[in-house]
Amino acid sequence: MDFMKTPFLLIIFFIFFNCQTLSLDQKFEACAPKSCGNGPNISYPFWIAHSHSPFCGFPSFRISCKDENPIIRISNEDYIIRDISYKNHSFLLTNDAVYDSNCLTPLHNFSLHRTPFSYSSDHIGFFFFYNCTSLPPNYSYPIDCSSTSKLHSFGAFHEGYLEFMNFSSNSCQSSVEVPMDFNNEDDDFTGLLRKNYTDLLKMGFSLNWSGQSCSTCDTSGGRCGVEKNQFVCFCPDGPHLKTCKEGSFLEIFCKIGMSLTVKP
Ligand SMILES: *[C@@H]1O[C@H](CO)[C@@H](O)[C@H](O)[C@H]1NC(C)=O
Ligand SMILES: *[C@@H]1O[C@H](CO)[C@@H](O)[C@H](O)[C@H]1NC(C)=O
Ligand SMILES: *[C@@H]1O[C@H](CO)[C@@H](O)[C@H](O)[C@H]1NC(C)=O
Ligand SMILES: *[C@@H]1O[C@H](CO)[C@@H](O)[C@H](O)[C@H]1NC(C)=O
Ligand SMILES: *[C@@H]1O[C@H](CO)[C@@H](O)[C@H](O)[C@H]1NC(C)=O
Ligand SMILES: *[C@@H]1O[C@H](CO)[C@@H](O)[C@H](O)[C@H]1NC(C)=O
Ligand SMILES: *[C@@H]1O[C@H](CO)[C@@H](O)[C@H](O)[C@H]1NC(C)=O
Ligand SMILES: *[C@@H]1O[C@H](CO)[C@@H](O)[C@H](O)[C@H]1NC(C)=O
Repeated sequence: MDFMKTPFLLIIFFIFFNCQTLSLDQKFEACAPKSCGNGPNISYPFWIAHSHSPFCGFPSFRISCKDENPIIRISNEDYIIRDISYKNHSFLLTNDAVYDSNCLTPLHNFSLHRTPFSYSSDHIGFFFFYNCTSLPPNYSYPIDCSSTSKLHSFGAFHEGYLEFMNFSSNSCQSSVEVPMDFNNEDDDFTGLLRKNYTDLLKMGFSLNWSGQSCSTCDTSGGRCGVEKNQFVCFCPDGPHLKTCKEGSFLEIFCKIGMSLTVKP
């Protein structure tokens, strides 16, 4: 009769072992919201490298911490994430170089190519023109640290405005476009014209992201994450497809198993 006992004990062992460890799912624990010190709490689809596990979010949403600020790399530059609205799927960011450099001169066009991000409806561009032989037009932002008596560098809000001012960008060695937001209702344009371009860039810009929302998983007590490039909801009892409320196969198995093993 002894050979009959062994598989039975194994099953009991399996049920106890699995159901107990699953009650503190490691992936659920690993994906708890964290912050870099300053700034917003970070969770799915974002994740902090060295602090979260990569399965807590998508690769494009990888964040690193620098001087306690959350940094995301887009278009080969570092941006500080100042705020995240998980509800609106949007986040506010500022070029890190704005705080680092005393002569900010972006040299590459900003691009959202190959990112899951898109501009907010408030997006307008801000343009840098370098080493122009013509003088900067009115209502532009001179970049003194990058200008000489013969070659002028400046920033401006709109390319069309330069045309209107009869300014030919052909007189410049290079030009670069970076993102900026402008909201007709919130922003006072004459106020913006009084700022310098570093202060303008410090205001930052918003991007939004597309993809599965975390709200149903979140409100059911779960934490969103990614498995095999697919959305999953990590719950205290293990991963689920969408929400912790739907019973997983393992959960049903465990409940039956537990009720069987508890009974004499
Ligand atoms: C981050 O989460 C903690 C705990 O839920 C909360 O106390 C804190 O206010 C949050 N911080 C921000 C910036 O939202
Ligand atoms: C989210 O969107 C709503 C409606 O567009 C807006 O009123 C609200 O300010 C936004 N919240 C954040 C944090 O961006
Ligand atoms: C993202 O921004 C675009 C452009 O303004 C807008 O059409 C879209 O609804 C926004 N998406 C979200 C999730 O807010
Ligand atoms: C502007 O000209 C200076 C001097 O010729 C050069 O060193 C610099 O790289 C130029 N800047 C740009 C952005 O083209
Ligand atoms: C630029 O501003 C100056 C002084 O404010 C003014 O005299 C001049 O007419 C303006 N030029 C143009 C093209 O608007
Ligand atoms: C631009 O050039 C056109 C044609 O030469 C002229 O009529 C117009 O007044 C100029 N605009 C400005 C702002 O100087
Ligand atoms: C940025 O884009 C503009 C317009 O597409 C282009 O004319 C310019 O050469 C680009 N600048 C750089 C530095 O590549
Ligand atoms: C821009 O203006 C701010 C004050 O609003 C000042 O502290 C800062 O030094 C200025 N930066 C440059 C590059 O002129």
